[in-house]
Amino acid sequence: MKTVQEYLQNNKERFVSELFDFLRIPSVSANPDNDADVASAASFVAEKLKSAGADNVEVIPTKGHPVVFGEKMVDPSLPTIMVYGHYDVQPADPLNLWDSPPFEPVIRQTDIHPEGAVFARGSCDDKGQVYMHIKAFEAMMACGELPCNVKFMIEGEEEVGSANLSSFLENNKSKLSADVILISDTSLIANDIPSITVGLRGLSYVEVAVVGPNRDLHSGVYGGAVGNPINILTKMIASMHDDNNHVTIPGFYEAVLPVSLEDRQKMNEAPFSLEDYQADLKIDSVHGEAGYTVLERTSIRPTLDVNGIWGGYIGEGAKTVLPSKAFAKISMRLVPNQDPDTITELFKNYFESIAPPAVKVTVTPHHGGHPVVTPTDTPEYKAAQLAMNHTFGKDPIPQRGGGSIPIVALFEKELGIKSVLMGFGLDSDDIHSPNEHYGLFNYMKGMETIPYYFKYYAELKK
Ligand code: BES
Ligand code: MN
Ligand code: MN
Repeated sequence: MKTVQEYLQNNKERFVSELFDFLRIPSVSANPDNDADVASAASFVAEKLKSAGADNVEVIPTKGHPVVFGEKMVDPSLPTIMVYGHYDVQPADPLNLWDSPPFEPVIRQTDIHPEGAVFARGSCDDKGQVYMHIKAFEAMMACGELPCNVKFMIEGEEEVGSANLSSFLENNKSKLSADVILISDTSLIANDIPSITVGLRGLSYVEVAVVGPNRDLHSGVYGGAVGNPINILTKMIASMHDDNNHVTIPGFYEAVLPVSLEDRQKMNEAPFSLEDYQADLKIDSVHGEAGYTVLERTSIRPTLDVNGIWGGYIGEGAKTVLPSKAFAKISMRLVPNQDPDTITELFKNYFESIAPPAVKVTVTPHHGGHPVVTPTDTPEYKAAQLAMNHTFGKDPIPQRGGGSIPIVALFEKELGIKSVLMGFGLDSDDIHSPNEHYGLFNYMKGMETIPYYFKYYAELKK
């Protein structure tokens, strides 16, 4: 009988080619034109779970995209691990910035990935990381070495805010009962510096519209006397940060839990090179809230960022026009104990209050999510620490992440289950950007580490 690790090595080529099949499905959850593709990605996951040996595999409809469920209950006395991930992906545009088509995966080498990386939308976020779990499960089943019960809950709406998951969790409590949620949808510090994500920021996402005159006007005939919505919107946005890059919305920081100097010091001991960071992004300087380091600005501090802004004439050449309307999409990343609904309300009140009478403004809330911090003194975390130590040869560093996975807070609230964020991507893998990629090293390392998580978790829970 082969060992699980041998099985993984022997089947590496097939695991890469199957991932390619998964990546060829353009499961963009945000675009209704891709609904059929999203559905086919769900069936793909269901089929692969079945052939790997899962029972009770179901594609469960929601008001949005379906959730794929499957399980293998080996023994009720063993602990149960629920693997969560998402099969939906971000839109691929702008397409012209990709070096190869986003849904035609190819392997290319990079400086950071000398062993090659798979370039495709979703390769790292999150199809590649989901598929590691399915293949690790296949290997454990094939070798007759599944040390824990396992459930899979792979959703299709993470990239659009998981709006239907709260009711899904509420309505499926017993089906989803587990001891821990294991998630690979975050990053490592580096391939030789393993880390475990122990916090995620929350999110409040809003869209604003600023409307001036009832129609576009000649910018000479009317310009100077009629409020220009783009001038006004940009000034309003600019006023939302002060000279120290603090957010000016009254009450924005009020609920923020202070982090002790000692904890901040520890955070800043994590390996980080400002020089490499700037070189990677080709910037001469970073920019952010005064009084905090880059690591703090991207983990323990809340932010406000314009994600998109439009209005007026953006075609070839010059058109002299005073636009009737201007729009922006704005995200606010939140930290413990900020509440997304409260922040959205504070934003709305403030935005309305600073609008001059020459325009009318509307604020439309989009999705939101609560921040989380996960404990490190539990068997759930220790199992991840031991597993990574085994495969990387050193202890992983606990580090808070800057992104958001809204369901993590919901798992805790609705099901009372804590999550472990054992991700294998790199921040430089360009998730959500053109040329997203996932290292073959990372793909295999994830697959190798997961069975150790199962093994150590079973031992620690004995
Ligand atoms: N996997 C990411 C979140 C992430 C990435 C966390 C890297 C930590 C490190 C996830 O798919 C994501 O993109 N989430 C969205 C949330 C949203 C659409 C509600 C985000 O953070 O923008
Ligand atoms: Mn993700
Ligand atoms: Mn994402």
